[in-house]
Amino acid sequence: MRAVRLILILSLIIVISATVAWASDAKVNKSALGLFWSTGKEEGELFRKTQSEESEALDGNDELDGGFSSLDGMLQWAIGHSDPAKLKEGAKSVQHLSDDELKKRQIEIKELMEKLKMPSDAELMKIAIDDLNNSSTTLENRLLALEEILTLVEPIDNANDLGKLGGLAAVIRQLDNVEPDVRKLAAWVLGKASQNNPVVQKQVLDFGILAKLVKMVRSDVVDEATKALYAVSALIRNNQNGQEIFYAEAGDLMLKDILSNSTFDIRLRRKCVFLISDLAVSQLENADKAELPFFRDHVFLRAIVNLTSSDDLDLQEKALDAIKNLLQLRTISASALKDFCALDKALERMRLQLQQLMEDEDQRDYAQDVEILRREVELIFYKKLEKGFHVPT
Ligand SMILES: *[C@@H]1O[C@H](CO)[C@@H](O)[C@H](O)[C@H]1NC(C)=O
Ligand SMILES: *[C@@H]1O[C@H](CO)[C@@H](O)[C@H](O)[C@H]1NC(C)=O
Ligand SMILES: *[C@@H]1O[C@H](CO)[C@@H](O)[C@H](O)[C@H]1NC(C)=O
Ligand SMILES: *[C@@H]1O[C@H](CO)[C@@H](O)[C@H](O)[C@H]1NC(C)=O
Ligand SMILES: *[C@@H]1O[C@H](CO)[C@@H](O)[C@H](O)[C@H]1NC(C)=O
Repeated sequence: MRAVRLILILSLIIVISATVAWASDAKVNKSALGLFWSTGKEEGELFRKTQSEESEALDGNDELDGGFSSLDGMLQWAIGHSDPAKLKEGAKSVQHLSDDELKKRQIEIKELMEKLKMPSDAELMKIAIDDLNNSSTTLENRLLALEEILTLVEPIDNANDLGKLGGLAAVIRQLDNVEPDVRKLAAWVLGKASQNNPVVQKQVLDFGILAKLVKMVRSDVVDEATKALYAVSALIRNNQNGQEIFYAEAGDLMLKDILSNSTFDIRLRRKCVFLISDLAVSQLENADKAELPFFRDHVFLRAIVNLTSSDDLDLQEKALDAIKNLLQLRTISASALKDFCALDKALERMRLQLQQLMEDEDQRDYAQDVEILRREVELIFYKKLEKGFHVPT
């Protein structure tokens, strides 16, 4: 990994050297030069891997999604857009430089880059969108354009600009691409752009593509399925209109199928449980709306309770959280959870398992947190169960 980094940094220097040489030769203007740099960030920041996952609460912060280092993506993109002959020349000219000279050169380049005005994010987005929209763009460059947009839409202002620049339409068209990787990235961009952003949520929903994304969640390609589910979740979270479309497109059935079938990938199932918990909260917050029959479906409830016996502690925790929210719905009966889903037994099994985990130093803290949640669920469950035996007056 370290070696790879070093090579990358070196090639960055080469690319920049070549570009600078080329720029001074051909008097290429600043915006053309800008192709080779993403934003005017400090070098240190550029070398830091983007921690987009941190902000991806919706993503269930469950796994490293193979996020792109913006530097890697940028470099490849830069190489793709540069003149190979000049690049070679540039490489030759730095090959015989000593470490000191190389360092000096690096500082010069850095100073030069700072003096030049960097292109705005909107300009960069426009370039990537044009690439996407061009049918002659190669698969590799299409993927890189999507990666670039994925990084760029992180700030909310950029996400809002995407639609204005015609980018949403361009990205949405990629959902029909024959390559699963392209479709995956397109879904990922849509999810990231609309996450916690009602403006973009509405724009994307207005394209009428939620049904397509729901269908994509059933893809055989796991990465495509998880990113599609991420996009679906981001589009309907805290969004009543989105949720109505979701149910109309049988999104609930999709969730039920995935949850009750252990052949589906664990990441996908985790995201499903997370979304269900979210939808239950939404139902609780809109108490005036009739509770959906989906929530009290026994097969569905049994599948969720069953997940508490999963080997994956994170999935167990997410299932507990969903059960906690579901238990608070009026139409969900505690006795059904006991009789059809054996929730009482599941909670007891978890208690014993967590107790064991707490003996392990490394797992203690996490196990304690989950135990607190488990007790909370237990309390709500038994309270509701007790109440159920009284005839309401
Ligand atoms: C600068 O570059 C941009 C993009 O390559 C081009 O559209 C523009 O005409 C150039 N301007 C000059 C003064 O060369
Ligand atoms: C599309 O890409 C091709 C090849 O990269 C290029 O020659 C062409 O000018 C582009 N078309 C548009 C409309 O930008
Ligand atoms: C992309 O191409 C479509 C048609 O192929 C066109 O309608 C649209 O305006 C283009 N968008 C951009 C941003 O160039
Ligand atoms: C419950 O989970 C086990 C594995 O943990 C699985 O074998 C079984 O099929 C699941 N049952 C249902 C109804 O999901
Ligand atoms: C579970 O899903 C797989 C595909 O992932 C499918 O082939 C199988 O029929 C499903 N099983 C059930 C019981 O629905």
